[in-house]
Amino acid sequence: DAELTLRPQYLSEYIGQKEIKDQLSVYLKAAKQRKEALDHVLLFGPPGLGKTTLAVVIANEMGANIKTTSGPAIEKAGDLVALLNELEAGDILFIDEIHRLPKSVEEVLYSAMEDFYVDIVVGQGETAHAIHFPLPPFTLIGATTRAGMLSAPLRDRFGIVAHMRFYPVSDLQLIARRSAEIFNTSIAASGAAELALRSRGTPRIVNRLLKRVRDFAQVAGKSEIDQQTVNSALNKLQVDGCGLDETDLKYLKTLIQQYKGGPAGVNALASNIGEDTETVEEMIEPYLLQIGFIQRTPRGRQATEAAYEHLHIPYQTGLQA
Ligand code: ADE
Repeated sequence: DAELTLRPQYLSEYIGQKEIKDQLSVYLKAAKQRKEALDHVLLFGPPGLGKTTLAVVIANEMGANIKTTSGPAIEKAGDLVALLNELEAGDILFIDEIHRLPKSVEEVLYSAMEDFYVDIVVGQGETAHAIHFPLPPFTLIGATTRAGMLSAPLRDRFGIVAHMRFYPVSDLQLIARRSAEIFNTSIAASGAAELALRSRGTPRIVNRLLKRVRDFAQVAGKSEIDQQTVNSALNKLQVDGCGLDETDLKYLKTLIQQYKGGPAGVNALASNIGEDTETVEEMIEPYLLQIGFIQRTPRGRQATEAAYEHLHIPYQTGLQA
């Protein structure tokens, strides 16, 4: 399945995020030399940058098993204990969206992470007592879109913290060419460059758009995906020159037209465009901040001159105050 093989399996195949790879390769090597479990790893960054992929890569590099779950899937302390109970020495437990763990579950995680045990309360009333339950040394890998959403006690228990950044166009171009090769599709350098420019710094988007562009090229009878094919396909998909989609543009237009460019509160803005505040903060705003189209101010979100220019709306200084 080409879909699965798109994900790199080892650090050497993983494109970009060089600082993270350089650090991880040292920690992986050291842990392997000592025959110990790798210290707990916290990965944070916007969706689609490869946090899950990196967790799988870490497991492969350690030669360890990986069990994958997510914060919302673990409802009770007992659910977590059941997962921990299945781990063998050196195994990896990957918890995606770890900021969404219920508080009661999070508390069980503290002793599990720090000293590899959990205390389980059994019985009721007068017979209730805690059983000390030792765990094998394991590695917790947590992923979250924003480190600030994690409680301090949980955050402090991760020995390795990696902040993933949006990928530069040059890395996205390499990812496009690698994925095209896996798909057995030919892509011109200019096509890969155009695709990279319009993928919001995000490998998941490169790969998603590549599949659609490949469909357009195939149906048009083109043997190679060139820049023009990418352009016409992405225009049809309503992905603009900066990679912004309809939702991004709706956000910017609302901020500029309804709120005179801001500052506007995120809750008001989100409800105005019919999205959750969480979706706005985690999926829409990070890239707009990255490319300098919006700013976060104490009084709310503000559109920048670059955003006005992109939307071809005249920018008048003084009106914003
Ligand atoms: N596919 C998705 N993310 C990737 C990455 N960082 N390197 C290589 N292939 C990828």
